[in-house]
Amino acid sequence: MSAVASAAKPLDLAAIRAQFPILQEKVRGKRLAYLDNAATTQKPEAMLRAIDYYYRHQNANVHRAVHELAERATTAYEGARDRIAAFIKASREEIVFTRGTTESINLVARSFLQPRLQPGDEVLVTGMEHHSDIVPWQLAGAKTVAAPVLDDGSLDLDAWKKLLGPRTKLVAVAQVSNSLGTINPVADIIREAHARGIPVLVDGAQGIAHLPVDVKALDVDFYAFSAHKLYGPTGFGALYAKRAHLEAMPPWQGGGDMIRTVAFSGSTWNEVPYKFEAGTPDMAGAIGCAAAIDWLDDIGLDAVAAHEHALLEYGTRRLAEVPGLRIIGTAPHKAGILSFVMDKAHPQDIGSVLDMEGVAIRTGHHCTMPLMERFQVPATARASLAVYNGEDDIDQLLAALQKVARLFA
Ligand code: ALA
Repeated sequence: MSAVASAAKPLDLAAIRAQFPILQEKVRGKRLAYLDNAATTQKPEAMLRAIDYYYRHQNANVHRAVHELAERATTAYEGARDRIAAFIKASREEIVFTRGTTESINLVARSFLQPRLQPGDEVLVTGMEHHSDIVPWQLAGAKTVAAPVLDDGSLDLDAWKKLLGPRTKLVAVAQVSNSLGTINPVADIIREAHARGIPVLVDGAQGIAHLPVDVKALDVDFYAFSAHKLYGPTGFGALYAKRAHLEAMPPWQGGGDMIRTVAFSGSTWNEVPYKFEAGTPDMAGAIGCAAAIDWLDDIGLDAVAAHEHALLEYGTRRLAEVPGLRIIGTAPHKAGILSFVMDKAHPQDIGSVLDMEGVAIRTGHHCTMPLMERFQVPATARASLAVYNGEDDIDQLLAALQKVARLFA
């Protein structure tokens, strides 16, 4: 626990929960313990209100017309870009709006990596990457080389260093592993890669709502994230990229708004970031994302991190009480994810029994098939934490797991 996090004020959990209408839902007739936050977070009133307000009072297409609604929509939409940029300490021209982390990574693969690739070139990833931080590089024509993961779920940094070579065109790494919760040493990784002139993409999907991010201090080349894992709407996200990269990269999708001029003899491109934003964008998504950030910033990410860390420690202790349960991923630096298997029950069965007890978790390979192979399990059950979770959620999880242990004894 960092000094900053432990100095943070305790959260007013009841007040936070009161802002999430969905947490009042009964599921299978039971109190909902929502522990599937790595898949998607629930949405606070402030975010829901911002989207509702947008459609009731501001809706029009952006950057196109001079009428007042168009002006309101454009102001709100571009204001959202300022807000999102400020959240990760970027400049507004360095924030490209996308559909989410996956699209952000695909953009880098197509527009940055592919034009630079020679046959045999590599992207150095880690053995714990999500499929969306593996497949786009392969589709672009690169070979993906994976650094090994240690038994506790930490990255083997020495082995990672040895895999950096003359063929490495890009390093790509998850800030936080979605399957294990491991927090990767991205600052060290960026420093080492840059010392060899290799750019770095950080997949921030599982980091953005849990750890403060400063892209300038990190000196990261690309940082990708999704709004829906940040208490914001689905279908919206962003790519941070250093301006010099964006200027050098060709557009990847053609359409309206990404052009400066169009003629049948050829076209020219808009300035960054608009060069990468073809078509009518997701205005409500951007505005909802900015509102979610306002809401989260108001609590403070240090306080969020401290709360989730304390809950992770509590959950780790309690899960040890369940007969035959083994946690996969026990790295010293972890975010709020508890992945586990049980001796006698398949993860799918665990998920079904838990569901009947009102506990929502994810089961499966979590889009990390190589990692499942590394740990020689077909799947895990995964409980993932957010700011509105408390010890009562963990206690409900534990009671349900004890039931699984009894049923599958
Ligand atoms: N990538 C999300 C998860 O890990 C969907 O559950």
